[in-house]
Amino acid sequence: MPARPTRDWMRGLPKAELHVHLEGTLEPEMMLALARRNGLALPWPDAATIRAAYAFGNLQEFLDLYYRGMGVLLTHADYVDLACTAMERAAADGVVHAEFFYDPQGHTSRGVPFDVVTGGLLAGLAEGERRFGVSWRLIPNLLRHLPEDDALTTLRVAEPWLLDGRLHGVGLDSSERDFPPERFARAYAWAAERGLFRTAHAGEEGPAAYVATALDVLGVHRIDHGNRALEDPALVSRLAALGIGLTVCPLSNLRLRGVACLTEHPLRQMLDAGLKVTLNGDDPAYFGGTCLDNFVAIADALELSVADLLTLARNSLEVSLLDPAAKARHLTALAAYAGAAALVEGADT
Ligand code: ADE
Ligand code: ZN
Repeated sequence: MPARPTRDWMRGLPKAELHVHLEGTLEPEMMLALARRNGLALPWPDAATIRAAYAFGNLQEFLDLYYRGMGVLLTHADYVDLACTAMERAAADGVVHAEFFYDPQGHTSRGVPFDVVTGGLLAGLAEGERRFGVSWRLIPNLLRHLPEDDALTTLRVAEPWLLDGRLHGVGLDSSERDFPPERFARAYAWAAERGLFRTAHAGEEGPAAYVATALDVLGVHRIDHGNRALEDPALVSRLAALGIGLTVCPLSNLRLRGVACLTEHPLRQMLDAGLKVTLNGDDPAYFGGTCLDNFVAIADALELSVADLLTLARNSLEVSLLDPAAKARHLTALAAYAGAAALVEGADT
């Protein structure tokens, strides 16, 4: 009987993280430091009190605190620090490539200009890549609780950044219940006309029908979460046949009460259905765990095998936005890692 895969072994897996919100990497310590630096008052005296406030009954309760937390981000330097720190953490997890989201409207609605936010994040990511050797992409998400016209205004401001490759596609997030994807049909048609990569949060709290309309109406290339797609077997078959990546976030699902405990998480069914599932941190500062913590927690809860973990890492590279040469390089490194694991397993049995 081979030993269970260890945290160190999972850290060593060459893998991509494809679903992590930069604002969701804002740890309480940095939130307090930025509030101080910007002369802002927070309702919490210290990091322990902030963490104690992170007890959520559902997605909306989290979002209310999340939008409040990101309010400490104001200046170019704040955005640089946030993004560079996120890159350092990705490297520490053994993530070789990270695709980050951010919510431009969560900042422009407070009066921070789009180019301060985006320019600062891009500078921090570039510095992080230089220092920690992790490649990255940056995808602006549209806020689904705001009107589609607001999204279209944001896209027009982002257009030069999207067209010259500084930004890497369009996503959709925020409150899901009662905000079906089709409300953003015009925004996604705008992105499709420009040949942009498209993804959307769907099936996190919302029904399987929202995953279907993200696919059919928004024409997405990936689905963020997608858990509730499992309620529609025909949809699962389509997602598997199309090879649509699903960026799953177990600790987020646990903390937002999508599942009562990790042993009830649907990842096993997703793998068995042949879905291209990947493991991600979502909002690690709020949900108590990074990408690697998600690997370790779900591997323990579901007793995932070495083969399962290799599949998850391979999926993450395959459905990433890496260019073909970089993808091939990381997949070759993963195959070598798998070969070494097979040798160890052979010796163990
Ligand atoms: N924004 C940040 N994290 C999110 C999540 N898990 N779902 C929807 N919107 C989000
Ligand atoms: Zn998310």
